[in-house]
Amino acid sequence: MSLVKEINKSQLPQHIAIIMDGNGRWALRHGKDRIFGHHQGVESVRVVIETAAELGINYLTLYAFSTENWERPDEEVAALMGLMVQSLNDETDTLLKNNIKLSAIGDIDRLDEDVKKRLFETIQVTSVSTGLNLVVALSYSSRWEIIKAVKQIAGEVANGSLEINSIDQSLFDHYLSTKEIPDPDLLIRTSGELRISNFLLWQLAYSELYFTEILWPDFGKEDFYKAIIQFQKRERRFGKTSEQISEKKCNDGEKSF
Ligand code: IPE
Ligand code: IPE
Ligand code: MG
Repeated sequence: MSLVKEINKSQLPQHIAIIMDGNGRWALRHGKDRIFGHHQGVESVRVVIETAAELGINYLTLYAFSTENWERPDEEVAALMGLMVQSLNDETDTLLKNNIKLSAIGDIDRLDEDVKKRLFETIQVTSVSTGLNLVVALSYSSRWEIIKAVKQIAGEVANGSLEINSIDQSLFDHYLSTKEIPDPDLLIRTSGELRISNFLLWQLAYSELYFTEILWPDFGKEDFYKAIIQFQKRERRFGKTSEQISEKKCNDGEKSF
């Protein structure tokens, strides 16, 4: 029986971010090479995108390749890039058909021309979509992003176009590659690793974290539902007391009558 009926559709996370980890270990356990594991992981990507769209999630950010992943063996990097192009070739029509809009965050300039071209084409083609916003983090790291923002802000202060006193959290947000994207409500990481690995450090300040032992190629629809159900059981306090939170819920409830 599916867990989907346990999900409260009126309290869905607006933005889910996923660190898709464990392809290499999955391959090792199946006696295959790491690249086989990455191929296998593509099916899980397809499933989470489809599930997020079906549920009506607004934003889904997938960590596909980190700045640090450039340091992996050349053939693995080449395979991952090839896989990215192939997946975009295969899936662009489906994204469009399902009203999904693709965007990318990260140091896209570092990508090879063919990857960049394919990525921009899909972004362009799906820009008319109004449903799920699918964000792929590619050649992305949070420290890279923060340094880039700091340099831009410092430059504007130096040339007099920005007042130092106008720098606050919402202004800083605006200089990040996620500027039009709300902060994630829920972060999922597969493969049992309990770390963030340079992903959305600023944006995850108040996200609920969900870790699972499941390796990415084994992560399916029901696992995704499980994470959302777990999220819905948490009380997000944002620094306040539990009493303040339930008071607010009560007041909001009263308003809706
Ligand atoms: C995640 O799987 C995919 C990428 C980081 C690109 P890994 O390749 O990191 O798999 P493990 O962690 O070695 O098992
Ligand atoms: C994080 O996974 C990056 C992606 C999933 C794209 P890694 O496998 O690169 O992270 P570490 O090295 O285990 O921290
Ligand atoms: Mg890994």
